[in-house]
Amino acid sequence: LAFADPIQPGKCGPPDNLPEDVNPINCCPPEFRGTIIDFTPPPPSKPLRVRPAAHLVDSDYIHKFIKAIEIMKSLPEDHPHSFMQQAAVHCAYCNDSYKQQGHSNLNIQVHKSWLFFPFHRQYLYFFEKICGKLIGDPDFAIPFWNWDAPDGMEIPGMYTHRESPLYDALRNADHQPPCVVDLQYDTEEKHRSREDQVVLNLSTMHRQMISGANTTSLFMGNPYHAGDRPCAGSGTIEGVPHDTLHTWTGDKSRPYLENMGTFYSAARDPMFYGHHANVDRMWYLWKTIDATRQDFGDKDWLETFFYFYDENAQMVRFKVKDCLDTEKLGYTYQKVDIPWKNAKP
Ligand code: C2O
Repeated sequence: LAFADPIQPGKCGPPDNLPEDVNPINCCPPEFRGTIIDFTPPPPSKPLRVRPAAHLVDSDYIHKFIKAIEIMKSLPEDHPHSFMQQAAVHCAYCNDSYKQQGHSNLNIQVHKSWLFFPFHRQYLYFFEKICGKLIGDPDFAIPFWNWDAPDGMEIPGMYTHRESPLYDALRNADHQPPCVVDLQYDTEEKHRSREDQVVLNLSTMHRQMISGANTTSLFMGNPYHAGDRPCAGSGTIEGVPHDTLHTWTGDKSRPYLENMGTFYSAARDPMFYGHHANVDRMWYLWKTIDATRQDFGDKDWLETFFYFYDENAQMVRFKVKDCLDTEKLGYTYQKVDIPWKNAKP
């Protein structure tokens, strides 16, 4: 039984699993009146967009990115390209605004299963295309937070200036640079030396990417078919460091560690997109580790799709099978050191 038509436009409801005392919000996309089209990959001849490491970019690049987010934040809230609507995409798919077709008692949840990597790749794809459209630079590529390498193991500088649209006041005040990330963070501060923390982080990465991730479902998460209850089980990277860094970044004085620490608000922090670009990079890198590491071949996974507004405000149906190869989507990642490759614990 294919999980093929997970959501129907117009069938979006109020989020079903908001934390109890959070004010009700609507996460559904603005209504689309045209004809939904299938995603078609961009023509292959174009040079690839190269997503850069956030801590390595120059000020020209940062200004472009700031401009894009500034425009997004200035659009009316009901515009599909507005920053709030972009953040709401996450809420809708993660706080149960959609039900499974034919299973109106079962929610659609893109976390804690094999949907995690493809959903977020598609979401970022359009976020990036929209950024490019808003600044008139279709080749613009979003940055990635390079938390898997020592120099990237703190909040990248571009996100930390109070006046900048890349800043978010709702972050853990104790985790500002030069505080080094704890990839296994569980809300308890360990106060390790920078050196010890870096070594531990690298061996954590080695385990999550290599030694503990040598089957597809270990790495990507468990199968989740139509008719299944959500949350079949996370892959290695989704749990650590994806979840842990959400928790590490969110404001510990807020009840649910908003913004980054809880689904409904996570994508309201511009760092969300840098965090997820690196998560997406992990999927890309995992398949280069050895030839046995391959995507699922299950038709239910390949045929699953999600709906997004594209950069022309057209609603698009994007199948998992069309997002498996970043190069076919027109982008790749800056080549940087991969220090965890040999960091056996
Ligand atoms: Cu949809 Cu980082 O979570």
